Amino acid sequence: MAAYTFRLNGRSATVESWDPDQPLLYLLRGALGQHGPKFGCGLGQCGACAILVDGQTTRSCSFPVSRAAGKSITTLEGLGTPERPHRVQAAFIAEQAAQCGYCTNGMIIASVGLLARTAKPTSDQIKQALAGNLCRCGTHTRIVRAVARAAQG
Ligand code: FES
Ligand code: FES
Repeated sequence: MAAYTFRLNGRSATVESWDPDQPLLYLLRGALGQHGPKFGCGLGQCGACAILVDGQTTRSCSFPVSRAAGKSITTLEGLGTPERPHRVQAAFIAEQAAQCGYCTNGMIIASVGLLARTAKPTSDQIKQALAGNLCRCGTHTRIVRAVARAAQG
């Protein structure tokens, strides 16, 4: 069985897998105990499983474990803590930008990725950046408000 080592939320992590194409999501949620990323569609179409790979928003359900080797992976757990949330997490709380919360991981990760590229996005840029993240509860208006709030610092 092959072993793959990468940085996970600032620490070294190693996982083993028989299959180099095994989706990283399974190992994150299983062996590595990271429950921020969610299994939604499993097909790269909903965004619920998003993580940051070297700072880039990435769908972990369609990201093979072998490609994680040597990379820096950040999950929702690595952004902040309940006591010291990341500014995007704090903004989502302030705007109450969740209903069931299933999409929230992907929305927050994609927003962090957006703000790293574009510090002060327009409303249209926020909507465009999150267009591929599905929310079945209709929370989009609050989510866009939360990202704008986070961008204001
Ligand atoms: S679970 Fe990965 S994009 Fe839907
Ligand atoms: S808050 Fe339920 S899917 Fe978005």
